[in-house]
Amino acid sequence: MRNVAVEGLKPGMRLALPIRCQVSYKILLNAGVVIKDSHIQRLREINPGGIYIETPEFSKHPAKELYNNAVTTMDKIFESFAEKTPVDMRLVRGTVRNVASYLNKESHVLMQLARLNNADSYSVSHCVNVCIYSLYMGSKLDLGKGDLNILGTGAVLHDIGKLGIPLNILRKPGGLTPDEYIMIKRHPLVGYDLLSQANVKEEVKDIVLQHHEYCDGSGYPLGLAGDEINYLAKIVAVSDVYDAVTTDRAYRPKMLPHEGMEILVANSSANKLDSRLVSTFLHGICMYPLGSTVRLNTGEVGKVINFLRNYPSRPFVAVKQNKSTKVVSLMEEPTIFISEIIDM
Ligand SMILES: [Fe+2]
Repeated sequence: MRNVAVEGLKPGMRLALPIRCQVSYKILLNAGVVIKDSHIQRLREINPGGIYIETPEFSKHPAKELYNNAVTTMDKIFESFAEKTPVDMRLVRGTVRNVASYLNKESHVLMQLARLNNADSYSVSHCVNVCIYSLYMGSKLDLGKGDLNILGTGAVLHDIGKLGIPLNILRKPGGLTPDEYIMIKRHPLVGYDLLSQANVKEEVKDIVLQHHEYCDGSGYPLGLAGDEINYLAKIVAVSDVYDAVTTDRAYRPKMLPHEGMEILVANSSANKLDSRLVSTFLHGICMYPLGSTVRLNTGEVGKVINFLRNYPSRPFVAVKQNKSTKVVSLMEEPTIFISEIIDM
């Protein structure tokens, strides 16, 4: 798929990812829609950013189908919780199983889909993204099948308690009042109670309850510290922060992968997030897949051709110059960095 600006849109192009309103996060145009003149006109007025169109190789990619199915299934599950109708937990377990087994085969496309799908902290896409990142970390940490199932289920349901918070508070672009903040901080408890009614395993509920706890004891709702916090909840906390900062918000654009990683490292230095888990994520994640087209802060455009395993944020980029190609090693050029991902 390819990232295009509104000006670059042409009738006949097909959307690879949905376009969302930057304020309400409602989907304006679904993935798969073929762009018409009328769409282009409307999109020019609202200039939503983050427009990804399909390229022939990507249109039938199995990771894309898996991702879309996961979002559709979890949408139904969230609806069942909201309407207090019976929840079919087999569907949740099936989604977790599918994501886990795909990550074993080919992780980077699924991880990139997670990063590119604009999602607010309430949306189902955010929960699917956090599930993908958490299972990826779980597999790197060699967790057994049972733990991976619990981790994935807890991750995909971690924010279910936000169903109990009014949307105008969840999506408030400015600062929250003290009362509103207290309400937001209740969502792990609300989630725990909701899952208790659906007969969900205690270990899964612990993840939901503790995903905002911090290692230094400054988190919520219980203020647990260090080893008091469930290990799997600590994994979900890392994934949750990464997805939150690499996603567009009403008040700021999404950060690039290496900027998101810096936020994780800062949180680990401050003893908020588990430093070993942040390190696992940092060294395992494929931030800029081979073949991605990126823009550098020098203005040059090139393709990612290689990276060192321990430094995925500073790859080698091949830049065309007249008739030759120069390779920029970001490891050796500390003042040069990636400023935009154009294509993957
Ligand atoms: Fe949360």
